[in-house]
This record gives sequence, C-alpha cells and structure tokens, in this order.
Amino acid sequence: MSDLPRHDVADLTLAPQGKARIEWAERSMPVLRQIRERFEKERPFVGIRLAACMHVTAETANLMRTLKAGGAELLLCASNPLSTQDDTAAALVAEYGVSVFARNAIDTAGYYAHIDAALDGRPDFVFDDGCDLVNTLHTSRTEMLAGVKGGCEETTTGVIRLRAMAADGALRFPMVAVNDTDTKHMFDNRYGTGQSTMDAIFRSTNTLLAGKTVVVAGYGYCGKGVASRARGLGAMVVVTEIDPTKALDATMEGFRVMPMLDAARIGDVFVTVTGNRDVLRAEHFQVMKDGAIFCNSGHFDIEIDVRWLEGNAVGKNGKIRHQTDEYVLADGRRLLLLAEGRLVNLGAAEGHPAAVMDMSFSDQALTAEWLAAESASLAPGVIEVPEEIDKEVARLKLASMGIDIDVLTPEQAGYLSSWEHGS
Ligand SMILES: NC(=O)c1ccc[n+]([C@@H]2O[C@H](COP(=O)([O-])OP(=O)(O)OC[C@H]3O[C@@H](n4cnc5c(N)ncnc54)[C@H](O)[C@@H]3O)[C@@H](O)[C@H]2O)c1
Repeated sequence: MSDLPRHDVADLTLAPQGKARIEWAERSMPVLRQIRERFEKERPFVGIRLAACMHVTAETANLMRTLKAGGAELLLCASNPLSTQDDTAAALVAEYGVSVFARNAIDTAGYYAHIDAALDGRPDFVFDDGCDLVNTLHTSRTEMLAGVKGGCEETTTGVIRLRAMAADGALRFPMVAVNDTDTKHMFDNRYGTGQSTMDAIFRSTNTLLAGKTVVVAGYGYCGKGVASRARGLGAMVVVTEIDPTKALDATMEGFRVMPMLDAARIGDVFVTVTGNRDVLRAEHFQVMKDGAIFCNSGHFDIEIDVRWLEGNAVGKNGKIRHQTDEYVLADGRRLLLLAEGRLVNLGAAEGHPAAVMDMSFSDQALTAEWLAAESASLAPGVIEVPEEIDKEVARLKLASMGIDIDVLTPEQAGYLSSWEHGS
C-alpha cells in the first residue's frame, strides 16, 4: 500500500466495487470519453497539480481519469459529506492513483480537515463545487494563495459566493464560472436535478406522487426541472418565488403560484431549490399537514430550518427509512425531513445520472485545458467560459447521439452579421 498516493478514505478493500461503478458510469459519458482520448495524446496537464473539492461519485471519478490522462497530478476532497461514495473513493486511490480525502458522513471538522489535506498538496489550479475550497484558501490557508493560478466553479451557489468575493476585491485569482454554460445549466440544473430529486424522494419514502400536491420553492433552472418532472408524475405542482418574472413564467407554464405560508397548508411534498436560507421555517412547519415530506435540492443545508425542528419537536424517529427523519410536534403532527436537509438528490439518491454529468464534466475538462494555457493572461475575478467550449460540448454530445444539424449558408452567415438589411 506504500506506493499509493496520500489519502484518507473509509475502506480500500471497496476498490473493486468502486471500479465497477466508475466503469458503469463511463458507459453513459461518451463526450468525456472522447475528450479523455484526446488528452491521452496531447497531455495538456503535464507538471500541473489540480485540487478538486467535488462530490466524490463515480461521475467525478471519470472527470479525474480524464484529467489524469492529460498528465495532471490530482487531489480530491468532498464538497458534501453525505454524497461521498466510499467505494468510488477507494477505487480512485487504489486503481487510478488519485489522492483522495473523503469519507461518507464525516462531521464538519473532518470535512474541513479533508479540504486542508487537499490544499497541503500545493495545487496550481482548483476545482470547486460550492466555493468551500476557494473560501478556505482565502481565509485559513492564505499562505497557499500565491501558488494558485486559477480555478473552475461548478455550481450556482459557488458562483454567487465568488461574485461576492470579487465585488469585495477579495478574490485573488481567476475563477471560471463553469456553472454558467448553457450545456451545464440545461442538463445539470434542469434535467439532472429534476430527475434525481424525484429519485431521492422515491428511494427514501416510496411515496406515490400522482394526485399529491408538490410544492417547489424557487423556479430557477433547478426548480423548473423539479416542477416539470413532478407534474409528469401526476402531481399537482405549486411554485413559490420571490422574483416576479420567474413567478409569472411559472404561472404561464400552468403551475399554481402562491406564498409559502399558503402552500405550506396544502402541500404533501416540498422541495426547496432556491440557493437561499430559511425558505421552510417555523411559521410553515406550524401549519403543515401531518405526514408532510420535505427536502432540499439547493446547495447548502440552510434552506430548511432544521435547527428549529431539532429544538422544538417533542420527538424524533431518526432514520425511520433510508435518509428519512420523522419529527413529532407537540400537537402530534409528524413531519418527515429527507437527507437531513442537505442536497437530497445526492444524500438519498446517487446524484445526477452519469449522462448529465457527462456534459458538466466535459465543460470542466475543456475549461481546465483552456485555463492551463491561458491563466497567465487572466486577471483575478469571475470569468465566463469561452463560448466555443460550450458549443464544442454540445457538438460532441449531438455527435454521440447520432444527431446532425444544419449549418449556416454563407449568405445566412453574412445576413446575420450585417446591419444594412431592413424590412
Ligand atoms: N441538487 C443539485 O444537484 C443541484 C444542481 C445544480 C444547482 N444546485 C443548487 O440549487 C440551487 C438553485 O440553483 P438554480 O441554478 O436553480 O438557481 P437560480 O438562481 O436559477 O434559481 C433560484 C430561484 O430561487 C428563487 N428564490 C430565492 N429565494 C427564494 C425564496 N425565499 N422563496 C422562493 N424562491 C426563492 C430565485 O428568485 C430564483 O428564481 C443553488 O443552490 C444551486 O447551487 C443544486
């Protein structure tokens, strides 16, 4: 075992199981596979150390394989304690030579110790999913900042935090908002969160959604996916919003829109996907039906006020089912919280299907290649992914699906770029 890279994982004997899982995911990741084959030849990351703080899942493992094929030295820690697949973590260490620091269900101190362990490897570039690694670099590990040339951020919440850092003049290197590509948003936030959130609700409760009232808080990219999938399963869907345009959009799509206090009285199942805090709180718990189920698919575990439930419920039947805690209130009502209020699709299911992560991680891989070549010319701040990368990922995906599209004729290209033609 001494020739293995530095690591802290739960059980290395799980490696064969993890390898099978990683290879299974790879079957649904044809775009990333094409990129890996090119990286094997071109080796764009030779001599480069990359630290990633991401969900330690089979799909992330395939991103790690792709970067390693390009010659990178890799350090990986988890971006969520509940999403780590211990078998995948073991396989990454034992089979693919990646330095992994991640154990499922680790406590907060352990979570941050793992981020520190990854940073101890002195990365040149960082990949983040929620901005915890970049935040650690700028707060408790500032001695490492000088060596970091740039990085990529995977999710909405991370980009929001990065923009806040940049606005304060605090961000010390360029961070590319991979989250903001069309190919990421469309697949990951909408189709991925939509399907995998339903999957998590079924795995944890096995509830029948048809005929039930499902309340979706937030009608952004993720909320649209959750609402449409819930409707497809026969649920009556209510949307809550704070943005008038989004609320109007949901209304025109045929969803009922109302304040959460009204929705709380009629909902059977609640999903928060706002990226905000305290979306479900005391005043809502106090009017919910007996047996109401609620969960969060937004990035952090503060969308549902779990602390209120912990402090005010008269009883708790912990883990009465897979990732399901039942809180008993003083009046006898039982409220069911899934995955402790953390990202439910990762905590109670397996996260997005591999075909979804194929897109996000292809964006990541191509952006990393671009960043490695261009970082010296980029100023600190939040940077958009070059449009060509987005289009290339969409092109590769279409090719893998056997779909051809039209190309502009020279006349059409000329027409679209001219301003002389009127009516
Ligand atoms: N579960 C996953 O796998 C997954 C995948 C991608 C993104 N995310 C996370 O999901 C969250 C939402 O992402 P998004 O891309 O949909 O963001 P978004 O900005 O497109 O949408 C969020 C929506 O929530 C609304 N909102 C804010 N506060 C609200 C409140 N108090 N009540 C009701 N609505 C409110 C906003 O107006 C906005 O329309 C983020 O935290 C993101 O990081 C999770």
